[in-house]
Amino acid sequence: MIVIVVDSMTGLGKKFADKLGYPVFDIQHYQHDSKDEVFLITRSVNFGEITEPTKLFLTAYAKHVIGVAVSGNRSWGKTFGAAGDKIQLGYGIPLILKFEGLGFPHEVNQVKSWLAQRSPSK
Ligand SMILES: Cc1cc2nc3c(=O)[nH]c(=O)nc-3n(C[C@H](O)[C@H](O)[C@H](O)COP(=O)(O)O)c2cc1C
Repeated sequence: MIVIVVDSMTGLGKKFADKLGYPVFDIQHYQHDSKDEVFLITRSVNFGEITEPTKLFLTAYAKHVIGVAVSGNRSWGKTFGAAGDKIQLGYGIPLILKFEGLGFPHEVNQVKSWLAQRSPSK
């Protein structure tokens, strides 16, 4: 079963997650179920670094994560959403989207379509 796990500080990633139509768990409170396929929504800190909660989460559950989307801000220039590139490179998890603010409706739909291909019953 697909679940969304979200690492969100100011709430933008959480709001994006809530539009996807799957159960959403805060990264700090997620309890793994062996049937879960996790879609991760996270953010960047310190010039494109992966946050500590996301690092801890990936250490435990990377192999259950099917894809990642990253909330960011283009004002950070080259490091816009760069945690997503690092997750893709370091953990082999596909980076599906970098989005800014609440994300555009077409971006929400892009992720929904990608997830629906993984779970045809949705
Ligand atoms: C200390 C700090 C560092 C940040 N570094 C980056 C960055 O390198 N790249 C980026 O795209 N956004 C960066 N941001 C912006 C956040 O990632 C962005 O606001 C994000 O949308 C927050 O998601 P959230 O609302 O789910 O917490 C940074 C924000 C803070 C406070």
